[in-house]
Amino acid sequence: MAGLHKSEIENPVLNWIDTRLPVITMMQKEYGVFPTPRNFNYLWNFGALAMVVLMIMIASGILLAMHYTPEKTMAFDSVEAIMRDVNFGWLLRYGHANGASMFFIVVYIHIFRGLYYGSYKAPRELLWMLGVVIMLLMMATAFMGYVLPWGQMSFWGATVITNLFSAFPLVGEHIVTWLWGGFSVDNPTLNRFFALHYLLPFVLIGVIFLHVAALHITGSNNPLGIDPKGPQDTLPFHPYYTIKDSVGICVFLIVYAAVVFFAPNLFGEPDNYIPANPLATPAEIVPEWYFLPFYAILRSVPDKLGGVLMMFGSIIVLFVLPWLDTSPVRSARFRPVYRVFFWLQLLACIVLGMVGAHRPEGIWVILGRVSTAWYFLHFLVILPLLGKLERPLPLPESISRAVLRGGGGGPLPGGATAKPMEKV
Ligand code: HEM
Repeated sequence: MAGLHKSEIENPVLNWIDTRLPVITMMQKEYGVFPTPRNFNYLWNFGALAMVVLMIMIASGILLAMHYTPEKTMAFDSVEAIMRDVNFGWLLRYGHANGASMFFIVVYIHIFRGLYYGSYKAPRELLWMLGVVIMLLMMATAFMGYVLPWGQMSFWGATVITNLFSAFPLVGEHIVTWLWGGFSVDNPTLNRFFALHYLLPFVLIGVIFLHVAALHITGSNNPLGIDPKGPQDTLPFHPYYTIKDSVGICVFLIVYAAVVFFAPNLFGEPDNYIPANPLATPAEIVPEWYFLPFYAILRSVPDKLGGVLMMFGSIIVLFVLPWLDTSPVRSARFRPVYRVFFWLQLLACIVLGMVGAHRPEGIWVILGRVSTAWYFLHFLVILPLLGKLERPLPLPESISRAVLRGGGGGPLPGGATAKPMEKV
């Protein structure tokens, strides 16, 4: 019949489906035989890991929502009831709360992997920009989720962060009232944050789909940062990387379980075990650890609007990163000077995280200002200049030549040849 896909699946039922809707053929193409650089290291596990964490977050979140009450007089108690009265409610709640932290650890490593190996450069600019959209969505989702238990830190964190919008001239106050749904953080705020916290992960799925679709157009980057030149440079995704990803997932689950079972309040704030009280401000209002670097940038600028703009700017700058980095060489392995600046930038982000966790006084003010300045200097001045001034090391001829004994193509010990990967 004209227009029907000719499926090669043997099973007659699957063949019937695949002829009409070739999802199985598509999966085989994209995750079975998909040619993938043969030299991935374990840092290439983190995209798949992020997907696994998102699935765990959605599953545990839906189950939590079945017992949670988004109403200000009942929210805190409903969370306590989940912890004490719902079967395995403690596991759902601790799994979800710590899952958020694990999600950010995984995604931050995923981002710094991209920065080190130049994965944001042509032709992967759009893939990278979709990643930045994902990060913004994750931040919004995490922020609203943290408000739901309606503890002291939930309430005051929401108050401080939503109030930032009041810094914008003319429209600021209106935006804040609109966000709150009233004249302070109150029941309408809680209710809408719950609605959006439930919605945004599904928007995330959509954007992640585009992220991975873009990846499958360009193909993956790799630790050498050079393009595969033929079948000798790639491996089929399955079984090589399905197995490698499975190893990563097992290790990750061990770490995640260790936190959930042995230190479930490791990332938590004791004040959030006190019900929200609009009349009592906590001594210290600190965001979750994954927001600390941004919080530090906000506080390092001695002007409210300036701080807000710099905080948003620290993420916006990532959108244009592919055009700020002018070097044609991707991987830091072949960029001896960039490599040093990469580690300095990572250090600046860690210092910013520490600054965000301390009161803005004494040495912390100076450290905050220096590392904020450094953060922007790195992207806006150092990267554009380095591309022009740095002399990169010579690039290998091909992936297989660089990573295979015998240089890819020649005979390997034992008489095997490395070249004809089509056989696999
Ligand atoms: C929920 C969050 C995310 C998920 C599920 C996700 C998923 C993935 C997956 C499955 C891959 C392919 C495997 C890999 O290279 O590790 C990938 C690659 C990539 N991701 Fe993400 N990603 C997420 C967030 C981000 C963010 C926030 C950024 C950047 C701001 C980003 C940038 C990239 C880049 C540049 C690549 C290509 C890497 C390469 O080929 O070397 N991703 N992502």
